[in-house]
Amino acid sequence: MQKNGKKFFITTPIYYVNDVPHIGHAYTTIAADVVSRYKKLEGYEVFFLTGTDEHGQKVHQAAKDLGLDAQVHVDKLNTRFKELWVRFNICNDDFIRTTEERHKVIVLDILKRLFDKGEIYKASYEGWYCTPDERFWTEKDLVNGNCPECGRKVEKITETNYFFKMGQYQDWLIEHIKNNENFIQPASRKNEVLGFLSKPLEDLCISRPKDRMPWGIPLPFDDDYVTYVWFDALINYISTLGTLDKIKASGFWPADHHLVGKDILTTHAVYWSTMLKSMGLPLAKNLFAHGWWTVNGQKMSKSLFNVVEPNHLIDQFGVDTIRYFLMREVPFGLDGDFSHKALIGRRNSDLANNLGNLLNRTTNMIQKYFEGTIPAPATSGEEDEPLLSKAQETVTRVRTLYNDLAYNKILTEIWELVDATNQYIVKTGPWNLAKSDEGKERLKTVMHHCAESLRTLAILLYPFMPESAAAMNQQLGIDTPIEEQGMESVEKWGGVKPGSKIQASSQLFPRIEDKEADKILQGTQVSGEPAKPQAAEKKQDEVSSEQVTIEDFMKIDLRTGKILEAEKVKKSKKLIKLKVDIGSETRQVLAGIAEAYEPDQLIGRTIILVANLKPAKLMGIESQGMILAGSADGKIILGGFDQELPLGVRVR
Ligand code: MSP
Repeated sequence: MQKNGKKFFITTPIYYVNDVPHIGHAYTTIAADVVSRYKKLEGYEVFFLTGTDEHGQKVHQAAKDLGLDAQVHVDKLNTRFKELWVRFNICNDDFIRTTEERHKVIVLDILKRLFDKGEIYKASYEGWYCTPDERFWTEKDLVNGNCPECGRKVEKITETNYFFKMGQYQDWLIEHIKNNENFIQPASRKNEVLGFLSKPLEDLCISRPKDRMPWGIPLPFDDDYVTYVWFDALINYISTLGTLDKIKASGFWPADHHLVGKDILTTHAVYWSTMLKSMGLPLAKNLFAHGWWTVNGQKMSKSLFNVVEPNHLIDQFGVDTIRYFLMREVPFGLDGDFSHKALIGRRNSDLANNLGNLLNRTTNMIQKYFEGTIPAPATSGEEDEPLLSKAQETVTRVRTLYNDLAYNKILTEIWELVDATNQYIVKTGPWNLAKSDEGKERLKTVMHHCAESLRTLAILLYPFMPESAAAMNQQLGIDTPIEEQGMESVEKWGGVKPGSKIQASSQLFPRIEDKEADKILQGTQVSGEPAKPQAAEKKQDEVSSEQVTIEDFMKIDLRTGKILEAEKVKKSKKLIKLKVDIGSETRQVLAGIAEAYEPDQLIGRTIILVANLKPAKLMGIESQGMILAGSADGKIILGGFDQELPLGVRVR
């Protein structure tokens, strides 16, 4: 594949390291990955950046709650993102962390330059502060007295801080947005930003006093302050490239696309653009704001997270089904709903029935009629031309649609070629052609075209489903990896080599049968009990492959308790009713241990109680907690300690 000598730079937001990675994060990262892979196929030298945002109030607070040093805390947490991106086959070229030295030195350098240039000044300020969003708002920004971004309460703060002279760039920015049609996409979002800029643009508070929030990059000109987390974070897009000289020399700046969620468009369009302007750097070519995902019609929440945890979804459906679904289901820019039903529908109809079947029937027929060797085309027929021109049309359209990041339209186009190839098979009827010698000549052409169409499809699909595309390529007996064939190889029809040996293999996308689908759907009922991960169901005795964070674990309040009373529950073989003293109170707890312990054996024992378990009724009796026990060969043994501990002590 020829390199075109051009460079291409795409970024995702850097994710708050505190957050547990969810499908919203995966969405942007996959979208960036798709474009990166596509641009590489076009011969570009690509730089794809993602990373984690590691300073700020929330991280500081979380580390404090856990009694951890903030740096130790973030060193641990960022790996959750890194590991997930490996699982999703994300081909990022760098992963930047804002606590890394290479980032910090650039932030310091920029702050110093801007301060020396008079772009930053110190002033006393009174404003409304939204702690969760870590943003100051003016009175006029508030909506019903609350944060205009998240709707939560704000508090009035009076402080001396450092300010970046953002307001001076208002008119220039409005002009820039108006003059550069594609700077902000989609157009509806551009209008929102212009709406925001129709009110006077204030200067930006870029510091936080250390005594209120110490976890940040200290200002190079005043050690009592740290840098505001957004001012620090946005710089990641250039600190990855190095010093200002290196940035200019790298050839990667300005970035081609910053992909962001709709909620953080303003910070990018306004803060980042004015920061760049003041540094004398050109603005990114495009800011694309995508929509938000709900899950089964509901806002993503902690309880819903059980069923849409990305690692869990990959275990259930495989990486490429998730990548395909996220890119196919919703136009990039609009909100969408992640429903397991829709996901299973896409898998079965688009992937298993249409694409999977086309691949299977083609490889099977080449196996059957030509002993697995792709034939050279022989006699042409009138059915060929529509397929060939459809393929060329598809390649041209797909290329154009990438300019607007119209992922779902690209996939729709690609599926039209899948359908056209399936129809070609129906129209030409290989099974009839195989019946005569003359027909067999024609059959050579038909099978060749089907194989070529599949090769084309593999290349077009590769950015979206890299593993599956590579498997298709391999099944067609093609030795050259897709990355080396590139888009130029689908500009002309006929790249598949006659004589290649088909590598028959198992189905790429097995259908999810009704029974299995029902089971998955039952497990994703969001209104009732959260679904148990399937892996845990299957392998009760194996160490779970699903990892929980320390924060998740700390949500479970385990306490020492002493059993004061114990009696068997009438009509139950297993249950014993216990009275347990946990220091601050006495709890009534039902335990399924009657076959292992006599009530008298239990009285006076120190046990471990799950103290914040939602009360539940068993045989009409309320249980206010659960005691921990293990079992082996059906024998239950209560958990305990090798020395006495006071009652109500937290167990970790
Ligand atoms: N750290 C900042 C970004 C700094 S970039 C210089 C941040 N981080 S975040 O982790 O909170 O959010 C990262 C991205 O995830 C945002 O683009 C946000 O829109 C996106 N999403 C968060 N929830 C989402 C959904 N439910 N659906 C889709 N995307 C969502 O903001």
